[in-house]
Order: sequence, then structure tokens, then C-alpha cells
Amino acid sequence: METQACVNLKGDILGRPEIEILVDRFYAMVRQDAVLGPVFDVIARVNWDEHIPKLCDFWETVLFRTGGYKGNPLAAHFALTRDATMDRAMFDGWLLLFKQAVDADFAGENAEHIKRVAADMANVIHSRLQAAAITPLPAIPGRSYADYRRREPSVPPGR
Ligand code: HEM
Repeated sequence: METQACVNLKGDILGRPEIEILVDRFYAMVRQDAVLGPVFDVIARVNWDEHIPKLCDFWETVLFRTGGYKGNPLAAHFALTRDATMDRAMFDGWLLLFKQAVDADFAGENAEHIKRVAADMANVIHSRLQAAAITPLPAIPGRSYADYRRREPSVPPGR
């Protein structure tokens, strides 16, 4: 059981250096996960040299508005639904690992805030993917996540 003394020893997330520690630890845990790992390394075949700095930009933008992230999370996750379940259980697993990664190194206001934002975004992304699944897009033969990565930089759901 983590003692108060241990918690006090941990610092808060104050800027980019802490975000890099968090993102590195989180995706190291994700890659070890039996459910999430294959989504990243087999289905999406993620380029980690690109993905890690991009997610550091993302969380720096979320927490401090300084990261310069300019991506489209919804489009990236929507494209995954062609090859991965992206169901509630998978999002709950993602969130559990994220919270464990934060708590492993950090404690404080920003650490609590980033966990709340991650939970809110997990709910938003999951519910938007569910909504898109209910009103399916017209079938695009042979269209997979790899096609999405190769062909169209961003495909807004419900186009
Ligand atoms: C079931 C849970 C999730 C899975 C399996 C998942 C998986 C992925 C994958 C495979 C990518 C694309 C990587 C690439 O090809 O470059 C990605 C991108 C991304 N994910 Fe997730 N993700 C999940 C939940 C979340 C949540 C809850 C957030 C936010 C709190 C998030 C934030 C992002 C961002 C910012 C990107 C980059 C999008 C871009 O600009 O290209 N993900 N995710």
C-alpha cells in the first residue's frame, strides 16, 4: 500500500520533461498489454519515433497549451474501428494503464487533472465511435486502417 510519505516524495507534472516521462512509461505499458499492444504494433503498426513526440505535444497542449499539437484524435481512432473493437472494455483498459502510469511517478494538481481529462476524452472518443458505428459509413471496399494511413490524412466521422 502506497504510504503518504511515498506520495509526498512524488512531484507534480510541471512541464515537458515530466510529460515525456509519463508518455514513455504509458506506451511501454501499452505495448506490454495483451489487448492494447497488438492494436498499436500489429494493426496500426505505429511509428513510435513519430507517435511518442506527437503524444507529448498533445498532452503538453492539453495541460499547458504550449505543445503545438495539431492532429485529429477522432479521425485516428475512427479509422482503427475497421480493424479493432475499440469497445468500452478496451477504453477502460487504456484508462487504467494511463492512471497507473501517472501515479507511478507523479502526484499533485496536474497529475489529478491529466487523469480527469484522459477519462473525459476516453468517454468522448468512445461515444463518438459508438455513434459512428450506429450510423455506419457507406462500405468502402478494401478500406482498412493501413489505407487510412496511406491515403487520407484525416477522415472526419459521419462524412
Ligand atoms: C481504446 C483506447 C485507445 C486505443 C486502442 C488507441 C490507439 C491509438 C492508435 C493506434 C493511434 C494511432 C497511432 C499512429 O498510427 O500514429 C492513436 C493515436 C492517438 N491517440 Fe489513441 N487510442 C486509445 C485511446 C485514446 C485516448 C483516450 C486518447 C486521449 C485521451 C488518445 C489520444 C490519441 C492521440 C492524441 C493520438 C494522435 C492522433 C493524431 O494526431 O494522429 N487515444 N491512438
